[in-house]
Amino acid sequence: MSIKFNENNNVFILSTKNTSYIMGLLKGKHLLHLYYGKKLSSFPNNVESMIPSRLSASGSASGIEGGFSSDLLPTEYPTYGSTDLRTPAFHAVYEDGSATTNLEYISHTIYDGKKELSGLPSTYCESGDDVTSLEIKLGDKRTRLEVMLIYSVYEKYDAIVRSVNFINDGYGTINIKSALSQCAYMFDKDFDIVHLSGGYGTERLINKTKVSHGIFTVDSKRMSSSHHHSPFIALARPNVSETEGEVYGFSLIYSGDFIAGAEMDTYDNIRINMGINPFGFNWKLEPGDTFQIPELVSIYSENGFGHMSRCYHKLYRKRLCRGKFRDTHRPILLNSWEACYYDFNEEKIINLAKKAKQAGIEMLVLDDGWFGKRDDDTTSLGDWYVNRKKIPSGLGGLADRINSIGLKFGIWMEPEMISPQSELYKEHPDWCIAERGRESSLYRNQLILDLSRTEVQDFIINSVSSVLSLGNISYLKWDMNRNVSEKGSQNLPVDRQQELSHRYYLGLYRVLDVISKQFPNVLFEGCAAGGGRYDPGMLYYFPQYWTSDNSDAISRLYIQYGTSLVMPSSTMVTHVSSSPNKQNGRITPMDTRANVAMTGQLGYELNLLELSDDEILQIRTQIDAYKKYRDTVCFGDMYRLKSPFESDCSSVSFVKDDKSSVFVMICNSFVMKHLSPMLNIKLQGLDPKGVYVSDDGTMAYTGEFLMNRGLYFADRRDYKSEILYFEKQ
Ligand code: DGJ
Repeated sequence: MSIKFNENNNVFILSTKNTSYIMGLLKGKHLLHLYYGKKLSSFPNNVESMIPSRLSASGSASGIEGGFSSDLLPTEYPTYGSTDLRTPAFHAVYEDGSATTNLEYISHTIYDGKKELSGLPSTYCESGDDVTSLEIKLGDKRTRLEVMLIYSVYEKYDAIVRSVNFINDGYGTINIKSALSQCAYMFDKDFDIVHLSGGYGTERLINKTKVSHGIFTVDSKRMSSSHHHSPFIALARPNVSETEGEVYGFSLIYSGDFIAGAEMDTYDNIRINMGINPFGFNWKLEPGDTFQIPELVSIYSENGFGHMSRCYHKLYRKRLCRGKFRDTHRPILLNSWEACYYDFNEEKIINLAKKAKQAGIEMLVLDDGWFGKRDDDTTSLGDWYVNRKKIPSGLGGLADRINSIGLKFGIWMEPEMISPQSELYKEHPDWCIAERGRESSLYRNQLILDLSRTEVQDFIINSVSSVLSLGNISYLKWDMNRNVSEKGSQNLPVDRQQELSHRYYLGLYRVLDVISKQFPNVLFEGCAAGGGRYDPGMLYYFPQYWTSDNSDAISRLYIQYGTSLVMPSSTMVTHVSSSPNKQNGRITPMDTRANVAMTGQLGYELNLLELSDDEILQIRTQIDAYKKYRDTVCFGDMYRLKSPFESDCSSVSFVKDDKSSVFVMICNSFVMKHLSPMLNIKLQGLDPKGVYVSDDGTMAYTGEFLMNRGLYFADRRDYKSEILYFEKQ
């Protein structure tokens, strides 16, 4: 059992392989956070001895005698209104207008395994997993609000996941203004905050800032986790490296508006709040109703960012992603988007497929432009019937023709959107997200369907099912190309309008659950104008995600490196595109484009009809090589060896679970101006005594040599790269 409750001192101890998480009941009723970090073998046996006994200006809460002030206490799930006047995890306004909540312990249960979260994506366990859960029930006596704090300990994965469920057991409506998934504490101020921020085409770049007094926040109010920030932050000791130093990672399994904030108080304690963004949020909880909020995953690493990321990768790959593709290799695909945009017809697609077959590619994906009257982005989203002028054989016929060439066939859709110029809009103008009496802003000439409505959810389920049933379709790229503005639902009552953002996601999650279960053999790839909604919530439904619309290999060094802080390589879709690159015009060598793309799910995104026979042969060779490496890359442990954010190159490696092989990718970014010396790369995670032989048989080194002396990379010209692959003899 990795969760224990000590009745003598009212202490809960949650233990993973390397960490301890401790909570205790002060005076038998106030649940406090006491410790999270390196695994401890013993603890003080008295809760009171583990907390500061000083008074703050706000005094002590009623019921907490003996000089303890809640403003100083590390309350496990803090509320607002009484004497803790920092940012709370929970805040509600009750029917009589009062806004104070005082949570006290009622009971708890500990059990093996883990329950599913109703309506939300979450980590899961399989039989034989060492997972234990704890539910602690707290309650506010006056309003009869019950709050269930739910924790699950993934012992082997070194992870603690948590969420909260609210039950209105009283007689009046509760307006929940803020209900976060976690509040965590650091008991000193010596931390940096690391977060992933960027924009369209520059997603998830690593940012670091010192925590100081006040509140630092990253968030999204865009009705999507967004390109701009990710639902992840880490609290790291200054100068933490990939291999050394303390890091706490917090990652939210949610795709909508979120907040992640760190507040340093007067006493230099840091409180970390994360969950659904309270901005523009109000949830009416009627008597008898429950409200479940998203799950959050905490990882503590005393061995730097590397261990933290590997824990996230393993947990998310094995116990968040689902379905048959979780553990299998995905077809290597050619996507038509950068090859032809909207300018294609059936014969062009067939010719592309023939070339793709010659190059060793396994699947042809027809991107945007196959439906309605869509020859550009001004029309037809919502009209999910095939444009026979472009594709006379229809999707089923086209799929058959592509299958007979020897390729699988995949398709693109953007099911959450609607073009004002569409049949669907004529029929159901009220199905859009819009505010009454205010014109809705367009982006890319499109509006958003109101997924809080059941009939809209059903329409999407039916449209997607119909398309997938038209023929032998093996893959669906699910796109979502805009942020949401003028957030109003024409269906929800006035006093529930502020529930729209979260209800949208409950609706979307329902749709994705139904469709992914209905089509277990279809591979789903997520996309949101690139990596705009590439978050753990989406991984529950889509085992892979289009990382960014920026397909330039050098930009991708940064984007993929940042993304890898949390996301596993098995989920990261990485394509070889043309040179000059379509987004930024950069000219890069073909082998560099492939080497960078080989660190995720390799695919192609360029017009093969414009390539020479030699280049087609190069692609064939790349694919043959990747097939040898991909077991190690997609299912191995990732080690980041050189950061493009801190040096003039990027290097990452992947080591198979049993340490029997290692794949290394090294790529120069902007070296020339520095006239850099040779680059030394020290590997990690190998068997020190094992002898590793390169795949061309020219090099053989022991693991300890590779990890201590390392390899030299001599060609320091801009954009030059190399991949190396060793197997243990
Ligand atoms: C945005 C995506 O990120 C691209 O890959 C492509 O699918 C386009 N949408 C199509 O409109």
